[in-house]
Amino acid sequence: MPKPLNLIVACAENRVIGHHGRLPWRIPEDMAHFHRMTAGQTVVLGRVCYETWPRVRDDNRKPVVITRNQSLAQPNVRITNNVPEALAIAQELPGEIMICGGQRIYEETLPLADRIYLTLVHADVPGDTFFPEWRNLKWRETDRRESADANYRYTFSTLARVRD
Ligand SMILES: NC(=O)c1ccc[n+]([C@@H]2O[C@H](COP(=O)([O-])OP(=O)(O)OC[C@H]3O[C@@H](n4cnc5c(N)ncnc54)[C@H](OP(=O)(O)O)[C@@H]3O)[C@@H](O)[C@H]2O)c1
Repeated sequence: MPKPLNLIVACAENRVIGHHGRLPWRIPEDMAHFHRMTAGQTVVLGRVCYETWPRVRDDNRKPVVITRNQSLAQPNVRITNNVPEALAIAQELPGEIMICGGQRIYEETLPLADRIYLTLVHADVPGDTFFPEWRNLKWRETDRRESADANYRYTFSTLARVRD
């Protein structure tokens, strides 16, 4: 039995996830949630995400990085140049599979996703990187928690894929 594919993302109402190579917001509660959810797991991510997360290997995370640049190899970091191979490697590594973006990687894996750990930020924000439209697929919300800080309201939601 293959392991389920989980996407984890913080996404604005207008589907923005990034701006100028960084997150468009600073939401400490969501960062803590992201770190907690990915601790000990296999994380699949693109080269930009990898380069902006120097401590990705902390907490026993197992990174699988997608890039054409093979020289990024480091101990305990698996490198591949395509999504299908990244998913095959992730299946062989211990822990859950958490797909952490960015845009193209979410686009390629959303059709295969079994679950989305979604933080929906209730705002339209400027940005240059987007999460693909997920609302036209069928999901069952298995968990939901509303929260807010001084700047944003947001909802932590677990969406399980419903396949007819
Ligand atoms: N809000 C969130 O939850 C969230 C999550 C993730 C990212 N972000 C934001 O999104 C931005 C980064 O995402 P991004 O989409 O720009 O970059 P990314 O996916 O992290 O990295 C892009 C690079 O990954 C490699 N790559 C990606 N897809 C590939 C494919 N299908 N085949 C081969 N190589 C592939 C290429 O690397 P090479 O050029 O080395 O070949 C590409 O240049 C940042 O602003 C970040 O803060 C936000």
